Amino acid sequence: MKSIESLIHSWSGEEVLIRFDKLSGAWIVIAIHSTRLGPATGGTRMKRYPDLVSAVTDALRLAEGMTYKFAVAGLDRGGGKAVIALPGEFDPSSRNDLLRRYGGLIHQLGGLYETGPDVGTSAEDMDIIAETGAPHIFCRTPAHGGAGDSGPPTAAGVHAGIKAVCGALFDGPTLGHHSILVQGAGSVGARLVDLLLAEDARVLLCDVNPDQVKRFRDVPGVTVIDPEAVFDTPCDVFAPCALGGGLNKDTIPRLRCLGVAGAANNQLAEESDAERLRARNILYAPDYIVNIGAALAIPGIELEGWSLAEAEERVRRKVEETLNLVFELADRENVTTLNAARTVAQSRLDG
Ligand code: PHE
Repeated sequence: MKSIESLIHSWSGEEVLIRFDKLSGAWIVIAIHSTRLGPATGGTRMKRYPDLVSAVTDALRLAEGMTYKFAVAGLDRGGGKAVIALPGEFDPSSRNDLLRRYGGLIHQLGGLYETGPDVGTSAEDMDIIAETGAPHIFCRTPAHGGAGDSGPPTAAGVHAGIKAVCGALFDGPTLGHHSILVQGAGSVGARLVDLLLAEDARVLLCDVNPDQVKRFRDVPGVTVIDPEAVFDTPCDVFAPCALGGGLNKDTIPRLRCLGVAGAANNQLAEESDAERLRARNILYAPDYIVNIGAALAIPGIELEGWSLAEAEERVRRKVEETLNLVFELADRENVTTLNAARTVAQSRLDG
């Protein structure tokens, strides 16, 4: 296993804060990957990790992804991410106090890092964090002056991403009769299914938690599949909307799809997986373009005064434009779509 020192040394980001919260036994890791284009911004992920090395690894990679997410989309923000690694024994009644102490830490950073929700945190949690962390907290509930749930704009972006992939693969960006396999029926996945059904797509859906798919069992147009079969089921587009890292050297050879476009951050276990997908002729829409929704819409709604409808429209347009640009560049330069996305992002970071 790699040491924390070597992980951080080989990372391309600017700085990492690691705080041990003795009262709860949680570790807080804030990775500031880049402030080149603006304040480091990214969600707060809260979950259990096997060890601190895994938590730091996750924070570093996620923060880097945020840098490219903002850069490729032409937004003036930098990349950061926070991980709150909960201890094995965690008393849920101490959660809010932990969030308040975390908010205090963000406040001390004085705007170096701004945050919103991510896996394991909600708009309600942002209300608590903002008690001590304001004004650097996005996505509070509407009752607390925020834009609330980031699921709808995120789902809108993924929907647009799937359409752009269909546009590149088939006759045009229409979904009718194409089959889309949605992995994960959480706040984004479930909404995405509704958007896909409205356009007569055939939806295949799975979730490791059977309760999440219950409401879809009798819905016409939806086939609930066994999560074990997710990499082996034929479909046109595979949409990973669960935790990342699912696409790797073992699962890519099994895929029976023509394209990949989903909401999860870090869908590829390693960068060379983009090459593996290309070798199989599977069109990969880079995750950090497809899932720009929250990061574009929420600051727009809260700081610029956009309506939700306007924000969703901007997200759709941004995802479509950016993917088309990246697909074209990848084609022209004969490189992976990930490579092309990185080139676009890097030229902005270097500019
Ligand atoms: N989880 C979001 C993402 O990965 C983070 C975010 C939410 C950032 C809301 C800003 C505002 O993009």
